[in-house]
Amino acid sequence: MIDRRRFLSHLAELARFGADELGGVSRTGFSEADHAARRYLCERSRMLRLRATVDAAGNLFIGRREADRDRPVLLFGSHLDSVVHGGRLDGAYGVVAALETLARLDERDGSFAYEPVAVAFANEEGAEFGYPFFGSKAMVGPIEHAERLVDSAGLPLRDALRAAGGDIDALSSAVWPAGRLGGFLELHIEQGPVLQRAGVPLGLVEAITGRHIFEITLTGEQNHAGTTPMDDRHDALVAGARLTLAIEDIARVRRLCAVSTVGRFDVRPNVTNVIPGAVTLTVEIRDGSLDRLANAERAVLAAVAALGPGIDARVDVRMRAAPVRTDHRLSAAITDAAAEHGLPVLTMHSGAGHDAQIVAAAGPVGMIFVPSRDGISHSPREHTEPEHLLAGADVLLTTVRRLLEGADR
Ligand code: GLV
Ligand code: MN
Ligand code: MN
Repeated sequence: MIDRRRFLSHLAELARFGADELGGVSRTGFSEADHAARRYLCERSRMLRLRATVDAAGNLFIGRREADRDRPVLLFGSHLDSVVHGGRLDGAYGVVAALETLARLDERDGSFAYEPVAVAFANEEGAEFGYPFFGSKAMVGPIEHAERLVDSAGLPLRDALRAAGGDIDALSSAVWPAGRLGGFLELHIEQGPVLQRAGVPLGLVEAITGRHIFEITLTGEQNHAGTTPMDDRHDALVAGARLTLAIEDIARVRRLCAVSTVGRFDVRPNVTNVIPGAVTLTVEIRDGSLDRLANAERAVLAAVAALGPGIDARVDVRMRAAPVRTDHRLSAAITDAAAEHGLPVLTMHSGAGHDAQIVAAAGPVGMIFVPSRDGISHSPREHTEPEHLLAGADVLLTTVRRLLEGADR
């Protein structure tokens, strides 16, 4: 069992970093609040006689002081960054549970099948710097155009990463060599309504959704809102609004993918008496099938092309993350651990993206969910009952123990 008081107090203390006036957390990746949360985690790790290190991509790894570097790693954790006005559990829950798991293992003799390591991946949300899964992607391969990434205030990633202890010029050193990863376990809140509706305390994730993101800039003609006749206008905001409706139709009406969203929409110059000259918006499509995603992507591009003359469009692919299936052996270990705690488990899909789907390129992954009240997440209203948080953390600890001891073989 985990140390309940310590676990809940770590979770509550972490929620102070980036706490916002809405009762949630705004702790975007590589922000000051994120740096502070990471420092807090390092300090707690030291107090628990664990060793914290940061790789070039800003991923924070916590390991045993007497770590055996020759053993394959059993990695567990999630991310510390949040969306703007997000909740206190998305990501942070899995990281705190991972720290607690490691703290409980540290008492043992170390004759493990794997080296246990906890992780807080950098900038999973990509709420700033526009690159979701930044840290986990850096772990499995090269990051393209990292030099170009800036946050909404114009701060280059180079500087933000340095402040986190990373190094943009050494990103290739963050890639794990083949065979180093024995497995990755991510414990996370569900962020949807399935578990609560079913009245089941634990979810076993069998597949994680695929997700493609585009940033689209439409340029029309900025002009005077009083003097320009309606037929002479090239209004970028109107074009963007039409595009937004077409994107919604791709999933809601045409059913080409599971969900389609325009989540960000910036208007320039965003002034009452000026016809908008340019807009930048993000389009996100998600589905469990790569073929369907490819088809939906074609529909996005066709909708852009249909905007017609007078509007220039530039489409940047921000990310393509394929759907993945979790590993049978890790899933069996999770199921067995849940049974050991007498907890029922529901096998389910994840509609949210997770670092686990990226890490899957480097080794087997498994995921555990706990219920989200009313299915709400990416919101200050995000909540999970403490008893469910504790149950999930206990199951993570037991799963890790089983795998380390080779009890599942
Ligand atoms: C991850 O937070 C996602 O947007 O699914
Ligand atoms: Mn999230
Ligand atoms: Mn998350």
